[in-house]
Amino acid sequence: MAFQGIIINLFRATLLGLLFLVGDVSARANASGGRERTSLNAGWTFKRWENAPDGLSYDQLKPWILPGANDFIVDKSTWHQRPTNKPPRNIQYASANFNDSNWTSLDLPHDWAISGPFYDGDNPPVSGDGGRLPTQGVGWYRRTLSVDASDSGKQIYIELDGAMAYGTVWMNGNLVGGWPFGFASWRLNLTPYMHHGDNQLAIRLEQPLDSQRWYQGAGIYRNVWILKVNPVHIAQFGTYVTSSDVSTDSATLNLDVLVEHTGGDHPMTVKVATEVHVMDDSGNPGDQVGSFESATVTVAPTKKHSAHGTVTIPNLKLWGPIPSQKPNMHILVTRLYNSKEEVIDTYQTPFGVRSTEYRDDGLYINGERIYLQGVCRHDDLGSLGVAVHQPALERQIDMLSEMGTNAIRTSHNPPSSELLDLADRMGLVVLDEIFDAWNNPKMSNDFHLIFGDWAEPDLRSFIRRDRNHPSVWAWSYGNEIPEQGNQQGDDTSKRLRAIISEEDPTRAATLGLNNAGPGSGIIANIDLIGLNYQGEGNSDSGGNFDSWRSQYERMMIFTTESSSAVSSRDTFLFPPPDGNSATMDENGTGTDPNTHQVSSWGLWAVGWGASPDHVFAAQDSHPYVGGEFVWTGWDYLGEPTPFLSSRSSYFGIIDLAGFPKPRYWEYQARWNPNIRMAHIIPHWNWPDRDGESTPVHVFSSADEAELFVNGQSQGRITKGNLEYRFRWDNVTYAAGEVSVVTYKGGDEWANATVRTTGTASGLVLSAYKDRTSIAADGSDLLFVAVDIVDDNGDTVPTAEPTISFSIDGPGQILSTDNGDSTDLTAFPSTDRKAFRGKALCIVRANKGASGAITVTANADGFDAANLEATIA
Ligand SMILES: *[C@@H]1O[C@H](CO)[C@@H](O)[C@H](O)[C@H]1NC(C)=O
Ligand SMILES: *[C@@H]1O[C@H](CO)[C@@H](O)[C@H](O)[C@H]1NC(C)=O
Ligand SMILES: *[C@@H]1O[C@H](CO)[C@@H](O)[C@H](O)[C@H]1NC(C)=O
Ligand SMILES: *[C@@H]1O[C@H](CO)[C@@H](O)[C@H](O)[C@H]1NC(C)=O
Ligand SMILES: *[C@@H]1O[C@H](CO)[C@@H](O)[C@H](O)[C@H]1NC(C)=O
Ligand SMILES: *[C@@H]1O[C@H](CO)[C@@H](O)[C@H](O)[C@H]1NC(C)=O
Repeated sequence: MAFQGIIINLFRATLLGLLFLVGDVSARANASGGRERTSLNAGWTFKRWENAPDGLSYDQLKPWILPGANDFIVDKSTWHQRPTNKPPRNIQYASANFNDSNWTSLDLPHDWAISGPFYDGDNPPVSGDGGRLPTQGVGWYRRTLSVDASDSGKQIYIELDGAMAYGTVWMNGNLVGGWPFGFASWRLNLTPYMHHGDNQLAIRLEQPLDSQRWYQGAGIYRNVWILKVNPVHIAQFGTYVTSSDVSTDSATLNLDVLVEHTGGDHPMTVKVATEVHVMDDSGNPGDQVGSFESATVTVAPTKKHSAHGTVTIPNLKLWGPIPSQKPNMHILVTRLYNSKEEVIDTYQTPFGVRSTEYRDDGLYINGERIYLQGVCRHDDLGSLGVAVHQPALERQIDMLSEMGTNAIRTSHNPPSSELLDLADRMGLVVLDEIFDAWNNPKMSNDFHLIFGDWAEPDLRSFIRRDRNHPSVWAWSYGNEIPEQGNQQGDDTSKRLRAIISEEDPTRAATLGLNNAGPGSGIIANIDLIGLNYQGEGNSDSGGNFDSWRSQYERMMIFTTESSSAVSSRDTFLFPPPDGNSATMDENGTGTDPNTHQVSSWGLWAVGWGASPDHVFAAQDSHPYVGGEFVWTGWDYLGEPTPFLSSRSSYFGIIDLAGFPKPRYWEYQARWNPNIRMAHIIPHWNWPDRDGESTPVHVFSSADEAELFVNGQSQGRITKGNLEYRFRWDNVTYAAGEVSVVTYKGGDEWANATVRTTGTASGLVLSAYKDRTSIAADGSDLLFVAVDIVDDNGDTVPTAEPTISFSIDGPGQILSTDNGDSTDLTAFPSTDRKAFRGKALCIVRANKGASGAITVTANADGFDAANLEATIA
């Protein structure tokens, strides 16, 4: 698209600091933009101890850590001063002289607990809730960082996208600083602690016991970067772009650019200039569609100074969620120029333009009602743990998107930036959530211990990091906060809500309320009523939708957390419940107390939750409700309700390995109704049920369906009002074939067939989305599923042989899984018992490799199966 011209173009610079200008601008220019950000993921050594090996603790180091929060504390009178006495020194693991040759060599991102082994038995240090994995203890990471002549005059920062937890950074034996919250993204200036040549960098992390309510991993689990900039540069999270008067004809952009001066003795005057570009397919600046008028700012040493600009751009392509809208992205390219007109910094800000309204019947984007078809998401990636793996994240979001999900809630902590980038690009909206606890604990060692010092800096840095993402439609600053019903909770809520307004006046904020009911004091501080289970659980204790509506007529009401149905993939226990929802228990109601599996009719849920059918009916009976966030889209590590002996949850619509459970098609039928789909449950391998009444349920967006068993019609039925599945609850079982023909508006819609399989006779390998090429960039992954099949090629749902995976060629098997919450075989194991006819193997190509990788699956009594992937 060609340059569009500019209607209004205003720019003003605020000059709060010194007013005299200094001509001598000594910052070095760099034709490539003055900013160099490179990955620091490679080449680390690592060791972990169950107990602190160094005698250090957060409390002891805190005085030197807290000053790093000052950028995110508004009241300067409460800023923390670095103590004049020296921090602990001679910590051997931080010293250049320490010989770490027998530590583990690794690349980041890294989750030190995910390899296991799992804790078995009754009283493990980390229980099923924490995933039975060895998260606890202290880990040290070390590597050298060299500084050469080309770095002179530069400021060198380390940026950590996430480190779990209580991170401290040490340079040449000196404590630089740190950040305790494991979900925060933070940076430190290393420059004062570095010298020419090799420097010893060391990072210490600590993950206490009893700190995680679900598996949160441990280690440097997100990306780490080295940033080199000139002393005068755009500050961390230094741009903030909002839009106003948005229409398809034009939009006004409002921009703040924060310029920071970290070095030298003189104030510096720089010109700030920003161009507006379309984002191209590869995520880079494409055609230019406008620019802000440039401005000059003068910044005193150690100070920051912001420039504001406004520009109106015609015909800007709006960002909106799929499928009805398009997620058009743009990028701002901001440059700082010195007095010689040389570029001294370049900063890119991806963003999107959309209007957001929160009406009494829900979320509106660009004037269109967006009914929230959302899922809650914990941050782990199954057998890969919490370590950020872009392809695994993409597979998660891709499968959810195909199911019709248009919204993610980042329960209950800040996600990786990669997740928000994906949501921006793929057109999903995100409820961005930060805290699971405030002052009162849920676990003895959770965030409440540091809430006093860190609530403000964590909240401000979180919002500054995420506020340019168009996918973020609202903030959530608390989930099921214990003090939500008392005065202390009201006061805290008020304080946090005020911070959010200061950092981002453009978005609404909410809380996931489970106990607070209509009339509760905390409602005064929130903009949207976010309800966890209230109004739609099996046993409603809180308010119902109408009692909320009657007291808060104008507020948007939606479900921050719904359902909590539980199931193990393709596990059918008879009979299913009669009604549309029922509460299971660990003693055999909807569960198998011997195998610790849960029936997967999709009708069993925890007592406070309900089946999808029940939730859909509750929502549809209250059409003003703005939608829901299901607990959960994918299974996650930890919280294995109702069987604490297991390792991972039963809540997912998709299992931990990425295989859909039957409920997947129930959500797809509602949320992505244009897909011509019919899905029959259960499978039809029930040799012990001959002649017995055996229910058959079908998910489809059709309105009529006829079921056949071995050609015999079981009746053509209509889906009734507030019904979300077709049910034939009294089919007489006979081995053979079950098929369904469905109709929408009288026309044939979709068919499906399920057959009684023969004996398992073969292994079939397939790659996710049939993708059989893999990049050798060191991060691309291949997801290879094995199906155990009969002679017709049908998956045998009862076949569970142990599969041995191996590979030939330049790559490695990272992990295997099967989606069985009870399986305590360590994830890196190449031997994996199949679960309900399936298993998964995750493969990565060696960095820089070429050629091909062959994945082989072997099992006793089966011929080996291969899958070849070319390295592209
Ligand atoms: C300029 O920056 C690029 C990377 O952006 C870097 O490779 C180069 O060494 C820098 N040059 C100077 C003179 O600083
Ligand atoms: C290697 O590790 C052992 C204990 O794990 C330690 O005692 C020893 O000193 C280490 N050797 C070196 C050279 O670091
Ligand atoms: C570190 O320890 C290893 C193993 O003991 C030894 O081979 C190596 O020479 C040591 N390195 C230094 C620099 O002392
Ligand atoms: C399950 O059985 C155990 C042992 O008898 C009992 O303690 C527990 O309360 C039962 N749970 C339910 C939900 O009935
Ligand atoms: C189920 O079907 C059988 C055989 O057709 C019939 O005898 C029985 O009464 C039916 N049960 C119910 C509850 O409808
Ligand atoms: C669905 O099944 C009906 C009845 O067997 C058949 O007539 C029709 O062709 C099938 N439709 C599709 C798309 O396979």
